[in-house]
Amino acid sequence: MSNRFAGQTMVITGASSGIGLAAARLAAAEGARIALIARRREKLEEALTSLPGEGHRIYPCDVSKWEEVQATAAQILNDFGTPQWVINSAGITRPGYFWELPLEVFYQIMEIDYYGIVHMCKAFVPPMMEARNGHIINISSVAGFIGVFGYTAYSPAKFAVWGFTDSLRAELKHFGVQTHIVFPPDTDTPQLHGEMPYKPPETKVLSETAGLLTAEQVARTMLNAAARGKYVILPGRETKFLWKLASVSGAWRYFIVDYLLANARRKLRKRGIKPAGE
Ligand SMILES: NC(=O)c1ccc[n+]([C@@H]2O[C@H](COP(=O)([O-])OP(=O)(O)OC[C@H]3O[C@@H](n4cnc5c(N)ncnc54)[C@H](OP(=O)(O)O)[C@@H]3O)[C@@H](O)[C@H]2O)c1
Repeated sequence: MSNRFAGQTMVITGASSGIGLAAARLAAAEGARIALIARRREKLEEALTSLPGEGHRIYPCDVSKWEEVQATAAQILNDFGTPQWVINSAGITRPGYFWELPLEVFYQIMEIDYYGIVHMCKAFVPPMMEARNGHIINISSVAGFIGVFGYTAYSPAKFAVWGFTDSLRAELKHFGVQTHIVFPPDTDTPQLHGEMPYKPPETKVLSETAGLLTAEQVARTMLNAAARGKYVILPGRETKFLWKLASVSGAWRYFIVDYLLANARRKLRKRGIKPAGE
């Protein structure tokens, strides 16, 4: 086991579960001190006891609330000094047909998945620029470069994370602060299980053939790639394939998307389920 992160501080949002927690465990095992952020204290306490090493601390905070992020960041800077890493993994999702999803869901996802990242960057980028050092890792999704059926509330927030991180990358490049964008595919975490009851039948069929990564696989790929200075991080072979397909196919991507959807609708009919619109 290497000690790549020895003496470094890593601030991780969404650190009490899934990909954020897996990243915390891996980095802690390699010497990092972790500042764990999430809303629920009891989940953070549970996560803290599962981390190897010493010097980690928890910070209950809702990243969608700027005042809370400001106060939490001040506390972290006081406790640890300027962090070398900020990983923005906090996120929620809620699939559903557009016409059935309440408007509040659109606002809430944007506030947490997108503005949560903006808030964290607002709080930590200035000291990192000052230190002329550090890495910021923002987690988007495959649904952040392909608009996926059933994700009209989630995909836009994840596309926004991509656009934001691209601009930030260019601005921070000459201040010694590296940025990274991660596009995970379906990953076996509480988020994925929690969204199941809300997935439209088409979305379920579309994801049936997709592979599933573990949170640890995604976190490991993310940390390894970021430590090597990679900007775009694509966990899993399927994600790399989809990224290439989306990049080279241009507007033809919509023929592929429609072809896959037509297949899914055929499968639903065979199972006696009416696809939307019939
Ligand atoms: N799992 C997948 O299939 C998948 C695929 C692609 C991308 N992603 C993205 O990867 C990231 C991690 O997802 P995951 O699957 O690991 O999710 P997860 O297991 O549900 O964990 C989400 C974490 O975020 C925290 N959180 C949620 N809202 C928050 C808020 N307002 N402020 C602070 N913390 C908050 C949660 O704790 P509290 O609820 O206590 O706050 C929890 O620690 C997310 O951005 C997600 O969109 C996931």
